Amino acid sequence: MTSTVLPSSPVSARPRSASAAGQVAEATRPAGAAALAVALAVRTDLWAHLVEFREESRWTHLLPTADLAPALDPSLHQELEEAQVWLLSWLPGQGTPLHDHGASSGAFAVARGTLTERVVAARSGRAPHQSTADLAAGRVRFFGPHYVHQVVNTLHEPAVSVHVYAPRLSLMNTYRIDPTGLVRIGTEKAGVDW
Ligand SMILES: [Fe+2]
Repeated sequence: MTSTVLPSSPVSARPRSASAAGQVAEATRPAGAAALAVALAVRTDLWAHLVEFREESRWTHLLPTADLAPALDPSLHQELEEAQVWLLSWLPGQGTPLHDHGASSGAFAVARGTLTERVVAARSGRAPHQSTADLAAGRVRFFGPHYVHQVVNTLHEPAVSVHVYAPRLSLMNTYRIDPTGLVRIGTEKAGVDW
């Protein structure tokens, strides 16, 4: 049997070099909506006590950003000031229609269970391209304006997810697919329809 002695790491109190300091600055730039969604999804202590499950429809809850900010690294998550954060629960079988998020960009992270996402990309003159993926806890998706998707809990366990929108979500258009592409079938407005 052989053993390997690892060299001990020298501890240095010297100031960091300019390049090292630059790397630190680089690492603390705003990290974006996806990082914010994941950072909040893992902080179950901030929201687990709020979660409800409703048989009649998906449950949604707007998380006040002022309550979240103290738990986050402000240098990484500056966009929180302009963002809107929703907590959603999904019983098996519950889901959204095919929809976009208006002019909002954002991200969502699965915090519990698994959600199935179908993404539809419309291409002029061609059949829409569709892809589907199961997103287990810890997975995240980010999106720009006009991203069209459908999210459903297709499995047997309840799911919870954290959604970040920036700018704040003001409307969602709903769609159906026909051979010519995506057809808008409705618009849900914040403050009116949810
Ligand atoms: Fe969505």
